[in-house]
Amino acid sequence: MNIKIAPSMLSADFSNLERDLKEVEKNGADYLHVDIMDGHFVPNITIGPDQVASLRKTIKIPFDVHLMISEPLKYIDRFADAGADIITVHVESDGEIKDCIDAIVKKGVRPGLVVSPDTSLEVIKPYLDHISMILIMCVYPGFGGQSYIPESTEKISACRQMIGNRNIDLQVDGGINFNTLKEVVEAGANVIVSGSCLFKGDMKENLGQFKKIIKG
Ligand code: DX5
Ligand code: ZN
Repeated sequence: MNIKIAPSMLSADFSNLERDLKEVEKNGADYLHVDIMDGHFVPNITIGPDQVASLRKTIKIPFDVHLMISEPLKYIDRFADAGADIITVHVESDGEIKDCIDAIVKKGVRPGLVVSPDTSLEVIKPYLDHISMILIMCVYPGFGGQSYIPESTEKISACRQMIGNRNIDLQVDGGINFNTLKEVVEAGANVIVSGSCLFKGDMKENLGQFKKIIKG
């Protein structure tokens, strides 16, 4: 399986953002994972659509936009216009999930759904024929640098089974590092988000190490 790597810019040095994100781009990352937090759905705040649009001018790899906001439907168009290539929405957020998926698709963007650690995969089932990606949170959303929740592995395997032969990517986010990467890949994840591990030290070396572990 073709495994993709999506460094999470949450762990970049925001005083040197362009420098750090260029390192991501030029060293073979597949997507830039962009975490959007509103201080309401999660107890942290990041950036909005205007900042995403600015980044889009210099960073050309696909933007994978993870919305951790209470009312995603209100902002989907703005993130799409800002240059998102993938938009993922938490099933725990307010409003109709299907309306969010439709709004994303209407903008020509790939739609995905996210489940937090305490949310059952069952919630995703009704939408399987309408989404391009499922994101399984392996930590409680809100902050980088947390430890991988071990129960996530079983959930990833179950999700891979649930996907069956559908063309849906299975993304994992939270606590993925040199020690946990192999386990999530073996369980069936094929899009790997990682923040604190990849941005600590040298991005080129770290991405190389990730690729080596993935190859096995
Ligand atoms: C957390 C974010 C993650 C975060 C992951 O809520 O969704 O994308 O940046 O960070 P690490 O890889 O450090 O756990
Ligand atoms: Zn994320």
